[in-house]
Amino acid sequence: MSTILITGANGNLGRPVVERLLKEHYKIISISGKKGNRVVPSHERLENLTLDLMDEKKSSAFANSLIKREPGLKAAVLLVGGFAPGSMQDTDQSLIEKMIQLNFYTAFNLVKPLLARFSERVAGGRFVLIGARPPLKPAEGKNLVAYTLSKTLIFQLADIINAEGKGKDISATVVVPSVIDTQINRKAMPDADHTAWVPPEKIAEAIAFILSDAGSMLRDTIIRMYNRS
Ligand SMILES: NC(=O)c1ccc[n+]([C@@H]2O[C@H](COP(=O)([O-])OP(=O)(O)OC[C@H]3O[C@@H](n4cnc5c(N)ncnc54)[C@H](OP(=O)(O)O)[C@@H]3O)[C@@H](O)[C@H]2O)c1
Repeated sequence: MSTILITGANGNLGRPVVERLLKEHYKIISISGKKGNRVVPSHERLENLTLDLMDEKKSSAFANSLIKREPGLKAAVLLVGGFAPGSMQDTDQSLIEKMIQLNFYTAFNLVKPLLARFSERVAGGRFVLIGARPPLKPAEGKNLVAYTLSKTLIFQLADIINAEGKGKDISATVVVPSVIDTQINRKAMPDADHTAWVPPEKIAEAIAFILSDAGSMLRDTIIRMYNRS
């Protein structure tokens, strides 16, 4: 049985992704943040852990022990991230650093040790990363400067993984939602057309495809899930 690592499992996107990938009969190791894993469903094929992924040493130790005890680890689905508004004039170094910690280091701290282990084995491994649209349409980032800069690094990280993985069974795919249809976004934007947003279950579906046999053929992939927004 293949194992999938999912971070941000207790988040608005994480929960449907955990549920969807359980249906694919994977074993799931899920990581929740400091609010804990109470909202993640319990299941015989699901192991819920709590870990601060901004902590480089703990993340690295976790990844190294995981690959030893889970030789069937097939992929890491790295969903942790967060948002902060702010134009250039509203943005300072500490906000940029905060966004980079949340959106980049939480992925990098696992990618680094896992990529090393995936590179040593024939089976390779897959990464699924979550980007955002402003890095691809920079004009959209003018009021989201720190967020945009931090998410830009996710695309660069995927490019580096794909360059390292060339000719091997190692790949990174970036999924790029426009606005995810979550309760938080509905509350923040009550007058928006919610039907134009992307249901998290559809993103979970796309991730299931990326991890499928057909999905293993994908290379250098960016999946733009914008719906009508
Ligand atoms: N929502 C949108 O419209 C939208 C649009 C484009 C892209 N995205 C991206 O999609 C992804 C998921 O978004 P979402 O709406 O599901 O976010 P969310 O509900 O805020 O979930 C984020 C998750 O990350 C966890 N987390 C935060 N800091 C952590 C840390 N240091 N260590 C371990 N876990 C940590 C949180 O756990 P705790 O709460 O317990 O700390 C939570 O489970 C993010 O990367 C986001 O940037 C979202």
